[in-house]
Amino acid sequence: MASFSLNGQAVEVDADPRTPLLWVIREHLRYTGTKFGCGVGQCGACTVHIDGASTYSCLTPVSAIEGREITTIEGLSSDSDHPLQRAWVEEEVPQCGYCQSGQIMRAADLLATNPRPTRDEIVTHMSTILCRCGTYNRIIRAIERAAEEV
Ligand code: FES
Ligand code: FES
Repeated sequence: MASFSLNGQAVEVDADPRTPLLWVIREHLRYTGTKFGCGVGQCGACTVHIDGASTYSCLTPVSAIEGREITTIEGLSSDSDHPLQRAWVEEEVPQCGYCQSGQIMRAADLLATNPRPTRDEIVTHMSTILCRCGTYNRIIRAIERAAEEV
C-alpha cells in the first residue's frame, strides 16, 4: 500500500511498488490529465510535480513517492486560474493538446523558482518536453505573459 498526497488530498493505493506513478495516477486514481507519451523518459507528456519539482511520472515507481506531495494538472489551481493556464488560453497555445499538461507543469516549475526567466532560460528549461504539433513559440510567449503576472 502506497500513501502520499495527490493534489492536496491524502491517498492510499494498493499497487505493486514497481508500478510507475503515471499509471497509479491515471488508472488507480483516475486523474487523466497526465498523459502517456513514450513511457521511457523521452517526451515529457507525463510530467507532474513531486514536492514541487517537475518529474517524469512514467519513470517514477510508486515506491519512491511514499509520504510525498504529488501535483498534477488537475491540482495546479482550484479553478484553472493559474497565470500559466490563463496565458495558455490567451496565447491559444494548444494544437492537438496531448503534450500540454506536461508543458504547463514544467513551466509552473520554472516560474516557481525563477519568476522572471529570460527567453534562453525558458527554452532550456522547456527542452525536456516535446510537442509534435510544434507549439513551441506559443509556449514561450505564454510563459513570458504569465511571468509578467507572477
Ligand atoms: S511518457 Fe514519460 S517521458 Fe514520455
Ligand atoms: S499540442 Fe499536439 S503534441 Fe503538443
